[in-house]
Amino acid sequence: MAGNSFGQTFRITTFGESHGGGVGVIVDGVTPGVELSASDVQEQLDRRKPGQSYITTPRQELDTVNLLSGVFQGMTTGTPLLMILYNKDADPSAYDNIKDLFRPGHADFTYYKKYGIRDWRGSGRASGRETAGRVAAGAVARKLLARRGVSVLAYTLKAAGISCEKFDPEAIEKNALRACDPAAAEKMLEKITRIKDDNDSAGGIIECRVRGVTPGIGEPVFDKLDAEIAHAMLSIGAIKGIEFGAGFRVSDMRGSEHNDTMDANGFRTNNAGGIIGGISTGEEIIFRVAVKPTSSIAKAQQTVDLTGAERTIRTEGRHDACICPRVVPVVEAMVSIVLEDHYKRQAAMLG
Ligand SMILES: Cc1cc2nc3c(=O)[nH]c(=O)nc-3n(C[C@H](O)[C@H](O)[C@H](O)COP(=O)(O)O)c2cc1C
Repeated sequence: MAGNSFGQTFRITTFGESHGGGVGVIVDGVTPGVELSASDVQEQLDRRKPGQSYITTPRQELDTVNLLSGVFQGMTTGTPLLMILYNKDADPSAYDNIKDLFRPGHADFTYYKKYGIRDWRGSGRASGRETAGRVAAGAVARKLLARRGVSVLAYTLKAAGISCEKFDPEAIEKNALRACDPAAAEKMLEKITRIKDDNDSAGGIIECRVRGVTPGIGEPVFDKLDAEIAHAMLSIGAIKGIEFGAGFRVSDMRGSEHNDTMDANGFRTNNAGGIIGGISTGEEIIFRVAVKPTSSIAKAQQTVDLTGAERTIRTEGRHDACICPRVVPVVEAMVSIVLEDHYKRQAAMLG
């Protein structure tokens, strides 16, 4: 199918473009009878919205959610939820001079080749703005997961080459990078500010920890829990890699070192990152994703136009110099959607 829907029993379909009428999501498979208000969703959207610091896009969208269906007297009804955010601060004029050019690293060339037509205003559907619908749906999944005792926490682990050296969960929402080490966050901000002033951008690594998942969740073989989380993560614009637990280091380890041995209290280590055989072990699910540097930069680069003629491009629009802090809530939302879906699939299997 067309690729705009994700999940089976908890299923989301996002819609909308950066500079169209708005963006949003339809969520099907919501448990009925659960208290849900627009403010539950708004809280998460506010973490993703633009204009939060010097290194994120200055676009001023309030990102106010409109909850149009699926809720009655403050409770979910089990019918589809439709949530829409109207675009208020779209400025297509910033794209006028590059509308016939393909931005290096962005999806302009590939969208044009696939569809033969492209909404060049603010990257259309390939814009990070599409992820607002995911965050809205994720807020609902998160609420349902909380009832199961599951909590999700993501944060920036590395940005612009600077790594966090300690894990302080209290610091995450208090710094512009959503990094887990306040001292590293300051260095990241300083470095990214310099990079932005040089008309360039930076990438990073986001780590995510999910606590409270009971053992036995996941659907082998093609819908393994780790495979579905990887699918969810790689569907987010600019995420280019994922590793679980010990990650790529496994290739250098011996079996005796890597195996998570067990004693009467359970697993003694968690190199697997909480998933073995595509099924949760009951340990913390831990994974990291690589975020590429924002492709739209004001530095001059070579490209071609629609006719194939060589041109120079500078992308002057409103862009994030490092998208990591805004991707953190998107990562949390997508992993929440996967887990709520898999909990419901487990319940369906048991009949
Ligand atoms: C929250 C969020 C914000 C983003 N902001 C920008 C941006 O300001 N400028 C930009 O060029 N790309 C931005 N991106 C990345 C593009 O959406 C992405 O690079 C593009 O769709 C191409 O897809 P790919 O990088 O996955 O191949 C953002 C992505 C997310 C998730």
